[in-house]
Amino acid sequence: MRRTYLWRLLKLLTVTAGLVLSAHILLSRVTLSKHPRKPSPLPAEEYRLISPETYEYVLNQPAVCGDRTRAPFLVFMVPVAPLEAAAREAVRKTWGAPGRDTLTLFYVGLPEGGRGSSAQLELEEESRTHADIIQVNFQDSYQNLTIKTMMMMSWLATHCPNASYAMKVDADVFVNVFYLLRRLRRSPARGFITGSVISDGRPRRDSSSKWHLSEELYPEDSFPPYVSGAGYVFSADLAPRISWASRFTRWIPLEDVYVGLCLRVLAVRPVYSLSLPTFGNLFEVRQLEYDRCAFAQLVLANGFTSSQLLHMWQDFSKGHSSC
Ligand SMILES: *[C@@H]1O[C@H](CO)[C@@H](O)[C@H](O)[C@H]1NC(C)=O
Ligand SMILES: *[C@@H]1O[C@H](CO)[C@@H](O)[C@H](O)[C@H]1NC(C)=O
Repeated sequence: MRRTYLWRLLKLLTVTAGLVLSAHILLSRVTLSKHPRKPSPLPAEEYRLISPETYEYVLNQPAVCGDRTRAPFLVFMVPVAPLEAAAREAVRKTWGAPGRDTLTLFYVGLPEGGRGSSAQLELEEESRTHADIIQVNFQDSYQNLTIKTMMMMSWLATHCPNASYAMKVDADVFVNVFYLLRRLRRSPARGFITGSVISDGRPRRDSSSKWHLSEELYPEDSFPPYVSGAGYVFSADLAPRISWASRFTRWIPLEDVYVGLCLRVLAVRPVYSLSLPTFGNLFEVRQLEYDRCAFAQLVLANGFTSSQLLHMWQDFSKGHSSC
């Protein structure tokens, strides 16, 4: 009699302890997966600099995606200075030419001299002709490229939510749009970003460097993996997610590293793009001597003038398929 009573008590205790323990494990799992890095939001004053709410569009094309018979497969988003009309013209006549699958848009800030300047009037004229310029009211400068990139992300998320992919690409870049489109049709549709991946980047502390970064702005001594800013491609779902992540990410003037910091918040790793079987990098972020069949095997090379781009494209667009 006494023995069975004790036995029951023991069983009850074991079961209760088991239940409590498993509930505890379950709960800690849930909280862990909900907060992979537990980032803390920036103070409002710091977030203001990169927040899309801070700025206004001076020129916009809000309906350019919705007006098409179907959403663009790939949107080229090209940051460019207001005065670089020749660079825009070269892009429009080469890889950025209007296509069934692609849409090309140029992102500019305000020119020196602001809204009343002759540079602004010329830009507005160009915008009426081509309807492909998005202008935001911050001063266009190298220092402000991070703001520009975050405006692009916000623009895409708001005005082109049905695009499949986007590419942030500089105007001095050669893009093999034929190969890129083929490759993207076999790429992940979500959470995907590729380009020239830099996985061992470090801040330059010498103040004479173009890429100088003070310890005050960025105390860590290495960068998370990021993709070089000359040209990177991502699935469009990442645009609103990167925008969101910027609420937790302190501004630095290096836009590509900044996007890498946002990706770390999202636990998204940029992926390498290699050509098989040679394992060549498809995103050659350096200037190469033009060679039609070598260029047919890569996605981009950079450092070209507008007239070089136009010349190369004349040969490439006709000849690449015979390589
Ligand atoms: C995106 O697609 C949804 C439904 O698939 C549609 O309702 C919406 O109008 C589209 N938006 C744009 C901007 O094309
Ligand atoms: C942009 O850059 C210039 C100088 O590089 C700076 O004076 C200006 O305040 C920056 N910010 C905005 C929001 O325009």
